[in-house]
Amino acid sequence: MIRYVTGNPGKVREVREYLDDPVEQVEYDYAEVQSDSVVEIASRGAREAHEAVGDPVLVDDAGLFVDAFDGFPGPYSSYVEDTVGVEGVWRLNEAETDEDERRASFRIALVYCDAETREEEPDGVRVFEGKVTGRLVAPRGEGGFGYDPIFEYNGRTMAEMDAAEKNAVSHRGRALEKFAEWYAEHR
Ligand code: IMP
Repeated sequence: MIRYVTGNPGKVREVREYLDDPVEQVEYDYAEVQSDSVVEIASRGAREAHEAVGDPVLVDDAGLFVDAFDGFPGPYSSYVEDTVGVEGVWRLNEAETDEDERRASFRIALVYCDAETREEEPDGVRVFEGKVTGRLVAPRGEGGFGYDPIFEYNGRTMAEMDAAEKNAVSHRGRALEKFAEWYAEHR
């Protein structure tokens, strides 16, 4: 049994599509370190959650990294979504850049920790990263969540894709695929 440490049941449903083993949601509030690295934030969270929960755990940290802003909002994406807002991020980017300078990426670190990784891995965890690069556009589409309406990939925003289409190209889908492959082979 893997415990996915998240407040978001949608993420648990998604991981279940990739794994045969049971996955259960657990809400555990780990201390989030201040860092510009999603890998560091999720790795520390996973070690702390594993100590608290005992079972194998999955922790993730993700964000939108805007090239013209040197990666901002990155790990602060959730806070910036609540304050500046998704449309606000688009307007700032539009004001600061020409049309060909609006590159951005979604990045995620999906981190797995169990008794074996604690023994065998230098950081005590196994990290699976995912990234998708696209460009920022004026909001379009009704699906998805967060910054999906302003993130365009191959001519469509993530909010214009259905869940399966988004998973096939998204940072989270790519990381989950890598994790599921590793898990099937090693656990
Ligand atoms: P989390 O770490 O997966 O909870 O993501 C943190 C924040 O990054 C979210 O609150 C969103 O603002 C943003 N984010 C992460 N993944 C996505 C995505 O797939 N689409 C849109 N926004 C995302």
